[in-house]
Amino acid sequence: MSNVLRLAIVDPHDASRETLKNLLLGMDMIWLEAECSRYEFFADVVGQTHPDIGVVNVDADHDKSLSLISRLREASPDCAILVISSAGDGQLILKAMRAGAKEFLTQPIKGEDLAAALERLGSQRFGGDGRARGSTVIALAGVTGGVGTTSLAVNLGCALAADPKNSVALLDLDLALGDADVFLDTIPDYTLIDVAQNISRLDFTLLKRSLTKHASGLYLLPRPVQLQDARAIDSESLRRVIGLLKATFSHLIVDTSKAFSETDMVALEAAKHILLVTQLDLPCLRNVVRLMMSFEAYEGLKERVKVIVNRAGLGSGQISLKKAQETFGQEIYWQVPNDYRTMVDVRNNGVPLTEYAPRAAITQSILALALAITDAPPKEEADEPDDAAAASGKWRGFWARRGRAPKAKTGDEP
Ligand SMILES: Nc1ncnc2c1ncn2[C@@H]1O[C@H](COP(=O)(O)OP(=O)(O)OP(=O)(O)O)[C@@H](O)[C@H]1O
Ligand SMILES: [Mg+2]
Repeated sequence: MSNVLRLAIVDPHDASRETLKNLLLGMDMIWLEAECSRYEFFADVVGQTHPDIGVVNVDADHDKSLSLISRLREASPDCAILVISSAGDGQLILKAMRAGAKEFLTQPIKGEDLAAALERLGSQRFGGDGRARGSTVIALAGVTGGVGTTSLAVNLGCALAADPKNSVALLDLDLALGDADVFLDTIPDYTLIDVAQNISRLDFTLLKRSLTKHASGLYLLPRPVQLQDARAIDSESLRRVIGLLKATFSHLIVDTSKAFSETDMVALEAAKHILLVTQLDLPCLRNVVRLMMSFEAYEGLKERVKVIVNRAGLGSGQISLKKAQETFGQEIYWQVPNDYRTMVDVRNNGVPLTEYAPRAAITQSILALALAITDAPPKEEADEPDDAAAASGKWRGFWARRGRAPKAKTGDEP
């Protein structure tokens, strides 16, 4: 379980509540557990949802909000109170602190001030520097059907889950025909539609219980059973599901569909690494070029794409690596060797490569890929927005990472 900070907000003014929510949405590892527009109800909301931090905007009514803070201190002493006000007068700050507030911010709130306050509260809660551990989203997209996207997604997930420091979930976003559950030989009780429909009721413990845990340690959230349910998943609900999964797992792998639909694009948007899986034949390479051109329409997306050649060394009909790289004007990040026999066996037996063929070249290649991808490049941090860097770098861990890919590795490794 990652040390995400769970927040509940009370503010009778819709406008300032929305502004705060928008600021929080840009932060990684913050989960908005509840929001409330009435001071009278907030103590109950906190009592029911047990947030780590209660954010109280006192502007609408100083007396009511200050007595609410006193009540919260009595009834929910584990919930740290952060007070927000447009008036920064000393008397009010003093009263709020005496009532039990731990932090005080004045409006308009600056992102870095909010993040710093949350970090201080987080460090009291979790110890250490209080920075929540970030989550890495890795989306896999095939350039055509059958190129091995699911094989790589599942085995990459198992490879990452083999490290006890990681907690890894795989989301099957091939909403109509996804088969990640077959690869893991599981019959899940719940699917993406259950989580999407209950997102507001789910907390982290409940979420993990709803997911199917494979023996490798990988958690699976499968595609819905019914086609009709697949259609009920829209971008907004998927964004929330991804948010909850990010807040819960250190790594989230998403196996996208070949439709590059709106929901697929939500996953690509959220991903730090987009692994574009191809083989070295003409239809595939043509699609790599087409997709890369289309990706230009989405800001910052192309930069996060890493081209992965699967089934490298398949046969004489393949286009050379050099020619392929020239064709799409981008280096190939990784090559996974061809090993049809092993791959068919692992799928048919529903076991991951790490278990079935730990020493096979294909397994070693995927393990090395997992390592290369998670070796968070220091450049990434340096590439954070300038204002973040200016704020002493202390609070950067809270911001959602619009990660840029590290310099592509050449095709001949590993
Ligand atoms: N490196 C590999 N070497 C040999 N065979 C492979 C390799 N990777 C995948 N395969 C085989 O390719 C076939 C398709 O794989 P997979 O289902 O993972 O592809 P996909 O891109 O997810 O397909 P779909 O379009 O149906 O989602 C499977 O039979 C799998 O065993
Ligand atoms: Mg697939």
